[in-house]
Amino acid sequence: MSETYNIGLGNNDAETRLNADSDYVSFWDKQARNLSWFSPWSKTLDWHPPFAKWFVGGTINASYNALDVHQNSKSKKPAILWEGENGDSRILTYGEMFAQVQKFSNTLKSLGVQKGDRVTLYLPMIPELPIAMLACARIGAIHTVIFSGFSATSIRDRVDDSKSKVIVTADGGYRRGKIVPLKEVVDEAIQGFDFVENVIVVQRTKNEISITDKDKLWDELLKDASDVCPPEKLQSTHPLYILYTSGTTGKPKGVLHGTGGYLTHLYSTFKWAFDIKDSDVFFCTADIGWVTGHSYVVYAPLLHGATEIMYEGAPDFPDASRMWDILQKYNATIFYTTPTALRMFMKFGDDIPNSFDLSSLRLLGTVGEPINPEVWKWYFKTIGKEKCPIIDTWWQTETGGMLISPLPGLETIPLKPGSGTRPIPGMNITVVDENGEDVAPNTKGYLVIKNPWPGMLLTLWGDDEKYKKVYWSKYKNCYYPGDYALKDSDGYLWLLGRADDVLKVAGHRIGTAELESCIVSHDDVAESAVCGIPDEVKGEVIIAFVVLKQGVATDTKILEKELFEKIRNDVGAIATPKQIYFVSKLPKTRSGKIMRRLLKAIGNNEKIGDVSTLEDGAAVTEVQTAFDEIQ
Ligand code: WTA
Repeated sequence: MSETYNIGLGNNDAETRLNADSDYVSFWDKQARNLSWFSPWSKTLDWHPPFAKWFVGGTINASYNALDVHQNSKSKKPAILWEGENGDSRILTYGEMFAQVQKFSNTLKSLGVQKGDRVTLYLPMIPELPIAMLACARIGAIHTVIFSGFSATSIRDRVDDSKSKVIVTADGGYRRGKIVPLKEVVDEAIQGFDFVENVIVVQRTKNEISITDKDKLWDELLKDASDVCPPEKLQSTHPLYILYTSGTTGKPKGVLHGTGGYLTHLYSTFKWAFDIKDSDVFFCTADIGWVTGHSYVVYAPLLHGATEIMYEGAPDFPDASRMWDILQKYNATIFYTTPTALRMFMKFGDDIPNSFDLSSLRLLGTVGEPINPEVWKWYFKTIGKEKCPIIDTWWQTETGGMLISPLPGLETIPLKPGSGTRPIPGMNITVVDENGEDVAPNTKGYLVIKNPWPGMLLTLWGDDEKYKKVYWSKYKNCYYPGDYALKDSDGYLWLLGRADDVLKVAGHRIGTAELESCIVSHDDVAESAVCGIPDEVKGEVIIAFVVLKQGVATDTKILEKELFEKIRNDVGAIATPKQIYFVSKLPKTRSGKIMRRLLKAIGNNEKIGDVSTLEDGAAVTEVQTAFDEIQ
């Protein structure tokens, strides 16, 4: 029996759960009415597995729901309390956001951007990023945000796939006190792309940039733009954005989210998980380049007219007290971060957070990876002073919003450190074995989702077949997220990490196939296999095994350097392996498949199990020796 903590807010809305369990379609129909629609829907759910259309026929606009609806009562209320890494700060009220967004909508229109066109946003964490997203949403353009740590090659692939007409970037962004030259990266990324008509540049760092025919300055464009731009009345299923994420195969997949369903999911989960009130000051540390930033920095808080903090830079810059300093400065009431960040803060000891006044906090959240029970307890005791519930939220880029989480804004249930507790209302989520049969309590299996939900992805951009194959082919009519889980005897779910070839390094998703194909594209490399091994702070770090082409005589030290460089350039710094090992062969089956299961098992110090299908035992010895060296 694991420990339980009874920290609730006294909310107990049993009726909501009951209604959701008896009829999830009518339940979501009711939730959707919390938003403002231009016209009602004729059908709540059109479900042709695996394609779901929510609120069919209804018309809505995301930017209208984030901004226009608050203008009567909250135009002077701060929407974003922005804190730059270098100490700059800005406060943007709902009224100011409203004007800026409309100006940028009109700017995009004047550049010929129309409903359905794609706009790539490659920006640091500055207010212009949510402004640009909402401006796209206002005119029905589909935004596609690329994390500002990604390389030129990654941008090129994504811009090519989405065929974006316009790119919005900045001269640079601050990261650990240095300027990251974003505009320069974009210039390299879009060389020869005639379909990119305009590049809009926000001047954040004022570093020198080269200006081409396509470039326009944000400030210049907005100066003369009108601040009145009526929102487009869009179908509920109109795509709101594409967000690329790593999967098990090849290149990143473009996850496509819609409007009405997605917003309904966010509005509801934000209210239930964070019990949001008008007086709250919410701080989510996620970068908007990832889904957590899309859903719970941009859309959910603004739908609720909440005040939130947005921070530009590294969480430990200039030192490990930065987050506590921000929480204290703005009297934050809700803090939402990752287990990786918490593990890092915990390592620095209690004295640092203890020297700040964190008494305004009332709720603490976590997302992105499993949280170790001891880290959970540290968060609970040292940061929350044993009075704030810990909201461990499980979800994915594809799910749009939280699907498993404690929901203190809705109901009070005991918490268990390390468990996300139960699914949100309306969800049938279980744990099954390889054959799709429910496993016994406390048995590890695969997480599956048995019914559609409003925040679920529409499809993968331009690839319905892949969408079917990746998520809906392992189990009939069930969504397969690719996670291991177990359900305990109280029905609590415990998420146990990825069951597929996706790595989670510091909470970021990295596809092994994507990384391996980058490594093997080096002239001297014949084969490569990468895997994750446990890491105290990052959860997991990457180890790469490389087999060189026959006859290659280059010094491996030089090769290693070249490969690190190549990975940083082609994929991005977050995918850099901790170590590269040069081996003469990889463990493979007789049919020639790399035995990843074996690499993973060796790396995790587990029994390696059945190796009867192995082609050559010596390969295992070589890999084992390499791992022994690391430990
Ligand atoms: C993992 C991030 C355990 C999981 C929102 C999932 C978690 C993947 C949790 C999605 C959690 C996310 N506990 N694991 N609370 N939250 N994960 O698309 O493996 O970047 O499949 O979305 O993160 O990562 P993504």
